[in-house]
Amino acid sequence: MAEERVTISVIKADIGSLAGHHKVHPDTILAASRVLVEAKKNGKIKSFYVTHVGDDLQLIMTHFKGVDNPEVHEIAWNAFKEATKVAKELGLYAAGQDLLSDAFSGNVRGMGPGVAEMEFVERPSEPVIVFMADKTEPGAFNLPLYRIFADPFNTAGLVIDPRMHDGFIFQVMDVYEGQVVELSLPEEMYDLLALIGTPSRYIIKRVFRKSDREIGAVVSSERLSLIAGRYVGKDDPVMIVRAQSGFPAVGEVLEPFSFPHLVAGWMRGSHHGPLMPVGLKDAKMTRFDGPPRVVALGFQIKNGELIGPADLFDDPAFDETRRLAQQITDYMRRHGPFMPHRLGPEEMEYTTLPEVLEKLKKRFKPADLGYKPHAKTGDSGEIHD
Ligand code: 13P
Ligand code: 13P
Ligand code: MG
Ligand code: MG
Repeated sequence: MAEERVTISVIKADIGSLAGHHKVHPDTILAASRVLVEAKKNGKIKSFYVTHVGDDLQLIMTHFKGVDNPEVHEIAWNAFKEATKVAKELGLYAAGQDLLSDAFSGNVRGMGPGVAEMEFVERPSEPVIVFMADKTEPGAFNLPLYRIFADPFNTAGLVIDPRMHDGFIFQVMDVYEGQVVELSLPEEMYDLLALIGTPSRYIIKRVFRKSDREIGAVVSSERLSLIAGRYVGKDDPVMIVRAQSGFPAVGEVLEPFSFPHLVAGWMRGSHHGPLMPVGLKDAKMTRFDGPPRVVALGFQIKNGELIGPADLFDDPAFDETRRLAQQITDYMRRHGPFMPHRLGPEEMEYTTLPEVLEKLKKRFKPADLGYKPHAKTGDSGEIHD
């Protein structure tokens, strides 16, 4: 068993929800769980935990088949299909929302569900934390991941633990171009920040320990609108982080979430709001379909088995964060339809702008600016001559 490689797969989808985009219905959780019970009985997966955050159904599985395994992905796909059937029977909202295709062809990536998976040789004690967020996008984890693995003011271990002192390698994905680049921290800190400060485009996909390239974190990077070419719901992301013994301590991994930073994806996928850390009991969306929330479940993995979970944000230590998030919620909401509460035109999932511009086309008249406009900002946010 010692050298056996275990895989943890977190695969999620919004297959329809109760009361708009508020929360997953328990009967759909049951339907998905039945598929996983069967898969475990047949030895296809070692263990699993099914839960939800807001309207996203979350399948957390362990097995020995590696990442991107067709059998494991098919189990997840079938679980979502079964849950969708129930969602349709109950008339749940947006039933089947994230299943963009009818035919499964070996891998759920690119079909709508979000996927984060990592494979490693289990340590004698293997703590992992699964983060699951609703009403936001994968780049929402950029800021906390930077703090966890690169900021010595957050993670004391970077300074005082010899096993972490060399730093970490960040793999960043450009989801517009489909390219990936690796940056070595701390040396390339400013280059990394230049990229990941644009979280809609540059997403931290994986983090590796520099000394031995052991994997420390992985994030789902699916962006539904880029897959489908139209608005189909937001890409509510998941992330897996390994902790302790040469990785950041659990408390160092949770610490960045004490700051409710602004993320994209609230209300109709088109607004910025604070990311509020909550326990499972509060993992449901209300105010303006939010505010965006994140849950952290802590597990130990032993012989491939998930032990736990611990509901890590279900704790008064995050009460002040939640209070601040509420204040930011009030503040942002008062902007109504104005940016920066509303996203920029290139990132909005809903927009009437083309129709409005078309309607007003004939009514736009030349204006005397007093200069000839030179640079213009295109849809991509790039400056063109
Ligand atoms: P490890 O050295 O086992 O990671 O423990 C560090 C710790 O938990 C301090 O908070
Ligand atoms: P979801 O992406 O979580 O389904 O939310 C969609 C939405 O528009 C909420 O306002
Ligand atoms: Mg939804
Ligand atoms: Mg959702």
